[in-house]
Amino acid sequence: MSLSAPTLLLGSSISSLGTMFAKIVLLLSVLIIGVAVWVLWPILIGAQWIPTPKDVVRKMLSFADVGPQDTLIDLGSGDGRIILLAAQEFGASAFGIEADPLRVLITRVRIRLKGLEDQVEVIWGNFFKSDFRAASVVTIYQSTEINKKLKQQLEEQLHPGARVVTYSFIFEGWEPVKVDESTKLYLYEIKSAK
Ligand SMILES: C[S@@+](CC[C@H](N)C(=O)[O-])C[C@H]1O[C@@H](n2cnc3c(N)ncnc32)[C@H](O)[C@@H]1O
Repeated sequence: MSLSAPTLLLGSSISSLGTMFAKIVLLLSVLIIGVAVWVLWPILIGAQWIPTPKDVVRKMLSFADVGPQDTLIDLGSGDGRIILLAAQEFGASAFGIEADPLRVLITRVRIRLKGLEDQVEVIWGNFFKSDFRAASVVTIYQSTEINKKLKQQLEEQLHPGARVVTYSFIFEGWEPVKVDESTKLYLYEIKSAK
């Protein structure tokens, strides 16, 4: 039995509609999985993104006496607000380590827009697998649990005299050299090995 031209045309339209539908479903699945990974990944490996208020960032940097002689590393740098301000207003060289790729991208755009490429850099990575040896100041806004896990790494990698400034969460077992309880800022200094 031979099929008429309109029947063949209808058949091919239905099959191309089916292909298009399959492509849309595939695209949507990829999109949903991508968003889920993006949202869940930082939660899985550590703290969520809760930015430090801008006025606290400024206080934090003054509190740690950050200046042009410093190399600052922000562990979990979020949208880059600490590293950008450290460079822009305090003259420091500043590095961020951030697990969330979108925030790394946002930070890179901000660095570029402010023309701070020579002074500021952000690395997409896990700070538990990073090296902080170059830092004279480390800024941290994470959690008590993460601070606990970071302690040994900081003690092993930072030079004596390096400052660690934390917002909201203390380092249990370390004696702060300066405290601002009303803002919840804590400054520590790495001691020389005995
Ligand atoms: C509370 S936010 C602080 C962001 C920024 N430092 C600020 O003060 O605005 C914590 C950030 O740390 C990031 N983070 C958590 N665990 C991490 C890890 N192991 N390595 C790199 N970044 C991490 C999160 O994605 C989030 O952006």
